[in-house]
Amino acid sequence: MNHEKRIAIYPGSFDPLTNGHVDLIERSLKLFDEVVVAVLHNYKKQGLFSVKERIAMIQDSFPDTSGIQVESFEGLLVDFAKIKGAAAVIRGMRAASDFENEFQMALLNRKLSRDVQSVFLITGQRWIFTSSSSIKEAALFGGDISDMVPIPVLKKLMEKYPKLHKTIETKKINSSQTCPIDL
Ligand code: PNS
Repeated sequence: MNHEKRIAIYPGSFDPLTNGHVDLIERSLKLFDEVVVAVLHNYKKQGLFSVKERIAMIQDSFPDTSGIQVESFEGLLVDFAKIKGAAAVIRGMRAASDFENEFQMALLNRKLSRDVQSVFLITGQRWIFTSSSSIKEAALFGGDISDMVPIPVLKKLMEKYPKLHKTIETKKINSSQTCPIDL
């Protein structure tokens, strides 16, 4: 059977990737043959991590998974979707508060192109409270966010935030708790 590849774009800032994103990528792979994780190159907003670092963290978090491409893009998402031959844009929906922004974005994308459909996946219940910005804030002050991000991201956050490094180190020393990382 001649089956055309079903490709989806999963766009975002990914500054950094969280376990909520990972869950969404894994579930998207059940619907699509290929998922292009597209990191926005946003010249207006300086992130904590460079786009290059974000891409590397995503790649390191999926070392053996086929069907995933990680790329950066600039300009219009619908144009990038066309270049990649994607029929769908995946977005996660955590709560009602996400809805308005996502609804607006989907309608604008639909106005810009009728060739790409927005597909919304409800975020896994475990990750409802997980966002890149809340993780960065908690990590800055040494909050233990180790079960909210993949290990490659945790390592990079520890490099940026000494208080987080201390928290994870202490967790390892008090090793009745399992520590997620080899220091
Ligand atoms: O992770 P984020 O920051 O919520 O992702 C937002 C993103 C990257 C999906 C959105 O800003 C985007 O698509 N930007 C590209 C420019 C564009 O196409 N704008 C029109 C639709 S909003």
